[in-house]
Amino acid sequence: MVRSGLEMLMQYKDFANVQVMEHPLIRHKISLMRKTDTGTYEFRKLVEEVAALEGYEALRDLPLKEVEITTPLEKTMAPMIDGKKLAIVPILRAGLGMVPGVQVLAPLAKVGHIGLYRDPVTHEPHDYYCKLPDPIDQRLIVVVDPMLATGGSAVDAINSIKNHGGKNIKFMCIIAAPEGIEKLAKAHPDIEIYVGCVDRELNDNAYILPGLGDAGDRIFGTK
Ligand code: PRP
Ligand code: URA
Repeated sequence: MVRSGLEMLMQYKDFANVQVMEHPLIRHKISLMRKTDTGTYEFRKLVEEVAALEGYEALRDLPLKEVEITTPLEKTMAPMIDGKKLAIVPILRAGLGMVPGVQVLAPLAKVGHIGLYRDPVTHEPHDYYCKLPDPIDQRLIVVVDPMLATGGSAVDAINSIKNHGGKNIKFMCIIAAPEGIEKLAKAHPDIEIYVGCVDRELNDNAYILPGLGDAGDRIFGTK
């Protein structure tokens, strides 16, 4: 049976604003990412590819307008993206790995950065950097981070963006824990959340199980 693109997404439990990807290519690529013997180069390519596939779904509702163009044979009206200005905002560091994948779809998007790290003991996020394209309030903002674990980093990042005036926000991650989805969906019910795969649980160090380990270290080869 051929299913439409929208049917390839699954709504997550009670949260109308959470979409979980069901596309077999995304599921296959995430499985490859999990493997310990997937090296840095291959891992980075997979992060980019999954980000592009998820981005394709996340940008499905971009508005179109009819504009006149000239083909080699005649003038015609044709649909083009309706000037919606986009910003891609990775949460440092690991979010950087998803940026090239979204840029494949939206090469002219501006890129902001939010720097956060998780305290290794408390698992609470700490902000160290925020630089967003100006003005931010007119843009569709796609926040990217491969891992949504406790949800603390994503909630904080989106708080910062809203404090800077951001209004139209989507969040994309590759692997999420149920706890992280719930925290983010409840804290920001106005944003759309796109999840590559929902994993089982968090361990005592707030790492996702089965997960893929430390996404930043695997992207940048720092371990
Ligand atoms: C990872 C990940 C998220 C965060 C998720 O970043 O990329 O930003 O943890 O965890 P949370 O949902 O419990 O907040 P980390 O703090 O390890 O920093 P890094 O990207 O620099 O490695
Ligand atoms: N950050 C990661 O990189 N991996 C996890 O499993 C949790 C947080």
